[in-house]
Amino acid sequence: MNVAVVGVGRIGLPLAATIASRGHTVFACDVDPDRVAFVNRGENPLPDEAGLGDLLRRTVSAGLLTATGDTAAAVARCETVLFAVAVDVDAAGRADLTNLLAACDDVARGLQPGALCVFDTTLPVGTTRRVLAPRLEAGRRRVGKDLFVAFSPERLLMGRIIEDLTKYPKVVGGVDRLGGERAAAFYRTVFGSEVLTLASAEAAELSKLSEGAYRDLNIALANELAQVADAHGLDINEVLRAANSQPYCHLHTPGTGVGGHCIPVYPRFLMQGEGPSALSALGREVNDSMPAYAAERVAGLVGGLAGKRVLVLGLTFRPDVAVTPHTNAVDLLREFEARGATVEGHDCLLGEADVRGLGFTPAREPLAGFDVAVVHALHRGYAGMDWRAVAPLLFDARNALDRAAVEARGVRYLGVGRPASPD
Ligand SMILES: NC(=O)c1ccc[n+]([C@@H]2O[C@H](COP(=O)([O-])OP(=O)(O)OC[C@H]3O[C@@H](n4cnc5c(N)ncnc54)[C@H](O)[C@@H]3O)[C@@H](O)[C@H]2O)c1
Repeated sequence: MNVAVVGVGRIGLPLAATIASRGHTVFACDVDPDRVAFVNRGENPLPDEAGLGDLLRRTVSAGLLTATGDTAAAVARCETVLFAVAVDVDAAGRADLTNLLAACDDVARGLQPGALCVFDTTLPVGTTRRVLAPRLEAGRRRVGKDLFVAFSPERLLMGRIIEDLTKYPKVVGGVDRLGGERAAAFYRTVFGSEVLTLASAEAAELSKLSEGAYRDLNIALANELAQVADAHGLDINEVLRAANSQPYCHLHTPGTGVGGHCIPVYPRFLMQGEGPSALSALGREVNDSMPAYAAERVAGLVGGLAGKRVLVLGLTFRPDVAVTPHTNAVDLLREFEARGATVEGHDCLLGEADVRGLGFTPAREPLAGFDVAVVHALHRGYAGMDWRAVAPLLFDARNALDRAAVEARGVRYLGVGRPASPD
């Protein structure tokens, strides 16, 4: 089978390489010439993605995976086209479809009769049918006759995408019955995975938004409970451990917010659609308020932040992946600076230009002599840090550190919803 994957970023590239590794001919289409050149050399542009380097080497050298900037020409040779072009929100909080629509236009120029097009990118409900399918029809094709269209969200965790691709059931919803059936048959054939075929593209779109909204709201509840714990001088870690020991309670971990271009974005897709979204909006509000809350707590412990030297460690949106969209490290920078602190940033996964690009002054190694260290993303690379040399107070922005180990080094510890060590 010939397959085109349009948009070979964090999701599309592991997806393309996995399909190629199963013996199919895959065209990896991307507008980024560096990405195209990288892939065609068989090199891995995402070294933190487990197993991807090996898959790329094998599939490119076997001639099964080829990258190209000419999407229309590649699509003309394929019976299936998968879209993994990212959709973020714009400044007004609305889905920005610009790149995905451009990709649709390129695909529409090359699409062969009877091709299947599947959108993997998370979308506001109704987008596949009302916006994207007509774009692919381009006024000369008919969905259900000349082309088949479905939505099928990716349910993956960065860093272990290849493993996750076959781990969970593949959710599929067609713009019509045939679109759904063809997409389901594609995933069964290629991945051999369990497929959940829903009644429509809209149902599949909403299922993915439901996953994201659930997690955002769950974290918001954990964050609110953490503030209650602070008000009573309790430790939220032991509170949540106890609550979650009952099988109907699945509270997540509190922290200084939610980053990445999935969880904080998807509730906003609900907030712009039909139907109520009061809870999605409230969850966003609570989570967005956490960096200011955290800065206030730290300020209260050190007698104000004016003139204090603060280090933020681990600037990516979560540990061990070099991905920074919507990272809360930037919100922490803003809040600490607003209170008069001098803030530097360090990330063992990012280069100096990336650190500057986020707005931080890069901290020089050895990391030492700060008044406060904020551990935002606890990368494996920070294991074994001599915290005592770094700062006398550690703020654990995701309750990820071993508090006892930190205190044993003579360093004060403060977590989210966790009391500070005595002075
Ligand atoms: N990253 C995740 O953890 C994750 C998890 C589940 C679902 N998703 C979904 O996957 C989508 C893609 O995420 P990602 O992390 O791979 O994004 P990404 O930004 O890493 O990759 C998108 C790629 O699309 C390319 N592109 C942009 N415009 C194009 C065009 N017109 N034609 C061809 N290529 C084009 C970009 O150059 C880039 O390489 C997200 O919007 C999200 O809905 C992501």
